[in-house]
Amino acid sequence: MAEERRRRATEAFFGRRRGKTLRPQQSAILASLLPSYLVDLDQPPPAHLPDLFDGGVSDVRLEIGFGGGEHLLQEARRNPDTGFIGIEPFVNGMAKLMSALEAAPTGNIRVYNDDATRLLDWLPEASIAGIDLLYPDPWPKKKHWKRRFVNRSNLNRFARVLSPGGVVTFASDIDTYVNWTLLECDSHPAFEWQATSADDWRQPYEGWPGTRYEAKAMREGRVPAYLTFRRR
Ligand SMILES: C[S@@+](CC[C@H](N)C(=O)[O-])C[C@H]1O[C@@H](n2cnc3c(N)ncnc32)[C@H](O)[C@@H]1O
Repeated sequence: MAEERRRRATEAFFGRRRGKTLRPQQSAILASLLPSYLVDLDQPPPAHLPDLFDGGVSDVRLEIGFGGGEHLLQEARRNPDTGFIGIEPFVNGMAKLMSALEAAPTGNIRVYNDDATRLLDWLPEASIAGIDLLYPDPWPKKKHWKRRFVNRSNLNRFARVLSPGGVVTFASDIDTYVNWTLLECDSHPAFEWQATSADDWRQPYEGWPGTRYEAKAMREGRVPAYLTFRRR
């Protein structure tokens, strides 16, 4: 049982859980706020997933690997009738989001601080309207490609939790990962790439605020691609 838990906790997470030591104030905010935002996987999910949020939302989206939370916060504020579950195992990223939520509490956000595969397996079938996977860890070396979040098992997870017509967005600056994702989704019966012209993958999504990772990639001369897939 313990071995099973260890294996599952890191099934798709190979990154760092901690970076620089948190400042005392950040640690205090994390300790006091995280429990109220955290989704508890030891409890069964509500039969109607929007009930996870106090504020009466009508549907629920996920952001996997939200980094510092800039995109998650912006989307939550742009879409007050949608609940957002943000997933980020990196403690410093979670601390940054909690500091922003301390300054401006936002009722339509919940978070999870471990491997997204665990949350995906907890969610009810067809309960999610959209999944954002923005600049997932690229693992550019071929020997590490098997660590990439996009793979058949995780696309099966996406297919199970998304409602029909639900949307997956995937942004990356690494050509081999973009091509990899196009091939994986093309060979999966549940997903349909939405692009009809080159602009559809060259132009960012509506209201796109950029992300910290993207800004660095662009400074270093890499060009992003923005893919959108629809669950059939
Ligand atoms: C390259 S960073 C991008 C962060 C952010 N989306 C951005 O664009 O600035 C990828 C993030 O995904 C997170 N991550 C990696 N594997 C994950 C997993 N299995 N579940 C959830 N998050 C994961 C990492 O901790 C990291 O913060």
